[in-house]
Amino acid sequence: MHAYLKALPKCEHHIHIEGALMPSLLFDLASRNNITLPIEDVAYTSEEALLDRYNRFTSLDDFLGYYYTAMAVLQHENDFEALAWSYFKKAHEDGVVHAEVFFDPQAHLERGVSVATVIAGLTAGRTRAEKELNMSTMLICCYLRHLPQSAALELFDSSDLQAAITAKEIDGVGLDSSETPFPPELFKDVYAKSKSAGLRLTAHAGEEGPASNIATSLFVLGVERIDHGIRLADDPKLMMKVARAGTMLSICPLSNVRLRCVKSVKELPIPKFLETGVKFSINSDDPAYFGGFILDNYCAVHDEFNLSPQQWESIALAGINGSWCSSARKSEMLQLLEVARKALPS
Ligand code: ADE
Ligand code: ZN
Repeated sequence: MHAYLKALPKCEHHIHIEGALMPSLLFDLASRNNITLPIEDVAYTSEEALLDRYNRFTSLDDFLGYYYTAMAVLQHENDFEALAWSYFKKAHEDGVVHAEVFFDPQAHLERGVSVATVIAGLTAGRTRAEKELNMSTMLICCYLRHLPQSAALELFDSSDLQAAITAKEIDGVGLDSSETPFPPELFKDVYAKSKSAGLRLTAHAGEEGPASNIATSLFVLGVERIDHGIRLADDPKLMMKVARAGTMLSICPLSNVRLRCVKSVKELPIPKFLETGVKFSINSDDPAYFGGFILDNYCAVHDEFNLSPQQWESIALAGINGSWCSSARKSEMLQLLEVARKALPS
């Protein structure tokens, strides 16, 4: 089944590009860019020590500390291109045919790295992936929820972001970072502005926070999909509503375990979602930090729930249909799915 899962044409909808920064590239860029990582933290003494620390996150906030610290090494356009390219290459090996990639411009702006630099690097990586790997890719700008909405509005109005929107280098917006203290409704205005600019809308909700954050994201922010959303199962009425509307969740199993949102993959409401018809895709979130890229997440789900090829096909299909690419690209991916189905040993 693992070979079949690898061959399935996969769409990744929940990957933070900064979360694909493997310790090897992190140390390499730190040395090239003369960045001193925090010497008081023994985790930064070697790649092994860092990976060991990544194995012991106690919460989303504990992880976010390492995630934002590591970004210090990303300084130049080339660094962002190298990061994006390293992710696309690995995703391609795992059978990803379409990737919708998050990035956190505010975390780079705070360090004096312009939005234009970040987007130029990521766009170069995307162009290469589209040409050399035949992958379709999109870019989703995330607002950081631990910063005030005024900062998100300032980013939205900035000439760099407006130029990227006009140039169609950005396809949508998302909302990420620490969830519990910062509910979705705080970002109502910037979501309304983003929608008026023609951007697609998504938001992290129901990861560590309650199911009510899913409802607010849907009905106040007006998002068309939910990132994580595992707490949806706590509210059966809302779950039925989401199932009926066909709203897709982008689930990240290994992330949920590493960040202690669940004790193990077994606790994830995947069988319940399949039963009630809630659409979802399976994703890696921050693969450098959570011990696996997308295929590892597919395999972990399979090893736990032993899904049938038909169930896997329905998950891959939901991923294609829930993507934000053109219908022509969706048709190509549906053909790839048909090829994978025919290759399945009976
Ligand atoms: N930023 C990067 N990964 C995240 C996650 N899993 N939840 C919230 N914000 C994030
Ligand atoms: Zn995420």
